Amino acid sequence: MGRGDKLATMQTSMTDDSDMHTLNVDLGDRSYPIYIGQGLLDQPELLRKHIPGKSALVVTNATVGPLYRARLDQALEGLKVATVTLPDGEAYKSIESLQTIWDALIEGRFDRNTTLIALGGGVIGDITGFAAASYQRGVNFIQIPTTLLAQVDSSVGGKTGINHPGGKNMIGAFWQPLAVIADTDTLNTLPDRELSAGLAEVIKYGLIYDEPFLGWIEKNVDLLRARDPAALAHAIRRSCEVKAEVVSQDEREGGLRAILNLGHTFGHAIENASGYGHWLHGEAVGAGMCMAARLSEMEGWIGADDVARARAIIERAGLPTHAPETMTRETFQHLMGIDKKVLDGKLRLVLLKRMGEAVVTGDFDARHLQACLDEFTQSGVARS
Ligand code: NAD
Ligand code: GLY
Repeated sequence: MGRGDKLATMQTSMTDDSDMHTLNVDLGDRSYPIYIGQGLLDQPELLRKHIPGKSALVVTNATVGPLYRARLDQALEGLKVATVTLPDGEAYKSIESLQTIWDALIEGRFDRNTTLIALGGGVIGDITGFAAASYQRGVNFIQIPTTLLAQVDSSVGGKTGINHPGGKNMIGAFWQPLAVIADTDTLNTLPDRELSAGLAEVIKYGLIYDEPFLGWIEKNVDLLRARDPAALAHAIRRSCEVKAEVVSQDEREGGLRAILNLGHTFGHAIENASGYGHWLHGEAVGAGMCMAARLSEMEGWIGADDVARARAIIERAGLPTHAPETMTRETFQHLMGIDKKVLDGKLRLVLLKRMGEAVVTGDFDARHLQACLDEFTQSGVARS
């Protein structure tokens, strides 16, 4: 599919005022706004107007809760409210955490008209969304993403879920939020390593969909890492535009949406092999995108200069460009075999047809994949 085709069916619209951008994700009766801007947590009406009932359960974690939970108090005034504070970490994107949320909902007698509010990064967003999808067969939820990764990716599009010890994100549901409120001021407290992890997904949008945006990232990566507010706002806005365009066309990943997983099949294998949380999701995706680019080159679709370009921007974003030392080709092959993109026993991967255009395909040479895995795990050719 060419980029022109995608733009021709674009179904998002954006309004703009000085402090806040509003993007609408157009999904019929499941449409919702994404608000992006500074100081949004200080606008209580923004959250309040999206809470339809008389109760709300906030889910956050032990890091984000102390920083930002109290900032929601004004918006929640007069409602029945409870807060679940989970331990911090990818390891807690688990069935046990889900049980904790279900327990709080049932013990607190929260009814079907309640609203779950996810306050945190992608871990909190994914698990809260799944709790909302499953509690009483589905209740409302709102995303308040506080990491760059969550603001550009995980809070938008309705993929929710938890990890299983045997595979990342293996249990979950599509469940769209009522609204996404991305207050870019929250990024000021984010550790540098987490900011870099978020940049992996920003770079992804350039690689899969928008080559001029990739060029913009190359020019502005130092400003982004220095948290320049204007640069961050542009990166978040363009990332959300691309994601919203793709999701609006293919909400349940029947086809196009899978391009959003560039590098993720390799990356999920890395996350799984190294133990959830040791490599951040965005770090694993960074290395995975280098592997996907190299395989795309082996297939003859992009050039060595393109691979070098992808690798350079991933490196400049502060991300790894190689697999963990301990991983072997066999570990990759085993773990990639349980990816959700495996269909009828056939592994499919997101590869680059050219810079700015991705394809989801099982039609690659298995010997090339093997050689690529060898390169990234053994010979040291692709290591920095
Ligand atoms: P995360 O949720 O673990 O957050 C990263 C770290 O930053 C945590 O320690 C968190 O406590 C801390 N943190 C969050 N906000 C902060 C703030 N403002 N100030 C200081 N610290 C803060 O990780 P993440 O990178 O946000 O998300 C990764 C998760 O998202 C993975 O589980 C991944 O699978 C998932 N994901 C989901 C989708 C989707 O479409 N649903 C897309 C991409 C990633
Ligand atoms: N992050 C991949 C997706 O939302 O589809």
